[in-house]
Amino acid sequence: MEDRDAVICECGHITRGEVIDAVLGGAMNFVDVAEATGAGRGCDRCRVPIEFLIQDVRDDPDAYRR
Ligand code: FES
Repeated sequence: MEDRDAVICECGHITRGEVIDAVLGGAMNFVDVAEATGAGRGCDRCRVPIEFLIQDVRDDPDAYRR
């Protein structure tokens, strides 16, 4: 079960669920997700985990729809 409440960007307090929703809403890459959610505006440490999550959602979006 996906933990949508887990924080993926600590600087912006952005959750995995916010990233997932952004990708399901059409965000295609890290820049799109950053614009949609506000993630990635601090240390940039979340870039790689967010990129992995974007890829996972794009590979199987139905698995992430509620
Ligand atoms: S954890 Fe996302 S910018 Fe620092």
